[in-house]
Amino acid sequence: MLIRCLFMDFTATGVLMSLTYDQVRAVRWRDDALELLDQRLLPAEQQYRRVQSVAAAAEAIRAMVVRGAPAIGVAAAYGVVLAAAARWVESPGQWRARIATDLALLAAARPTAVNLCWALRRMERVMAEISGDPRPRLLAEAVAIHEEDIAANRRMGALGAALLDTRGAVLTHCNTGSLATGGYGTALGVIRAAYAAGRVERVYADETRPWLQGARLTAWELVQEGIPVTLLADGAAAALLRGGAITWVLVGADRIAANGDVANKIGTYHLALAARYHRVRFMVVAPVSTVDLSLACGTDIPIEQRAAEELLMLGGQAVAAAGAEVWNPSFDVTPAELVDALVTEHGVVWAPDTEKMARLIADSAELAGPDAG
Ligand code: MRU
Repeated sequence: MLIRCLFMDFTATGVLMSLTYDQVRAVRWRDDALELLDQRLLPAEQQYRRVQSVAAAAEAIRAMVVRGAPAIGVAAAYGVVLAAAARWVESPGQWRARIATDLALLAAARPTAVNLCWALRRMERVMAEISGDPRPRLLAEAVAIHEEDIAANRRMGALGAALLDTRGAVLTHCNTGSLATGGYGTALGVIRAAYAAGRVERVYADETRPWLQGARLTAWELVQEGIPVTLLADGAAAALLRGGAITWVLVGADRIAANGDVANKIGTYHLALAARYHRVRFMVVAPVSTVDLSLACGTDIPIEQRAAEELLMLGGQAVAAAGAEVWNPSFDVTPAELVDALVTEHGVVWAPDTEKMARLIADSAELAGPDAG
């Protein structure tokens, strides 16, 4: 009975769904399965895919059914619940030993977003304490990861919006909204909060080649909420910044190294360079789970290389000269010196560097208590 209750639809509690300026959920748990809004089909179709095995969860992450660093972490946590359920049914005495390969499968699904490994480590810590049926406890932990992510985004929204002192237009890259997170968003969460407070009047969104997360996802989220959005080709950003209308550039992050270097969607680095040249401030918004103190600097961050077809094809049509070779890194690294403000749920770090990052993580560990990690 307890298991039955815990496996019910947590997104229907109203806690996750009833937030202003935040209508959509990329990840949800229903009737003992993970459901993912298939982001490859947006904005044309809104279709949830039911994911009932850990292998299917790993494949959905790899294939970008679910994407965005925090959303990947949340989906992976639910993936662990699926893995534990299968391993427990298969062999109650062996589930803990057998689940190791499942965790490795999830961890390998996408290499740059550190939130994925962060969520797996957190689930592993809980696994170590379980005796008996692992399902209720692991599901509770996955739901906690999901809800804490939304709460962190809300907090970052308030902190970041307070930095937008001049009412005007902002520029963003990729999709960092409800679709990329547990809900509400990181950089787009700040934009939501700032719009609600009257501090943003328009959002310029890079289309974000080759997956078009800006055109398909960010524009979709903003249009749905009536927030004015103007799309631009990625290559138009420097000209826009020169025009003087943009008060801040806001982006998310997939991994932040110990010195504050930021890995994010390909194209972020040249946006940061252009912003600095034109004296436009550059804000990175990310939860502390995105910080990886084990890597000294950005060059240590593994950068995912994706298939050539992503550039050679568009909507199933060939768009490039046959025979051309392709370089398709999914992310780039922006040096910390180009970041004016890093907004986390534990506070704002101005001009991040190694010392300030270490202090941020030490302070957040203190706030979270001795069991956090
Ligand atoms: O390849 P994607 O779509 O997963 O890349 C997403 C990004 O780069 C986001 O900016 C990042 O994950 C932060 S999302 C809150």
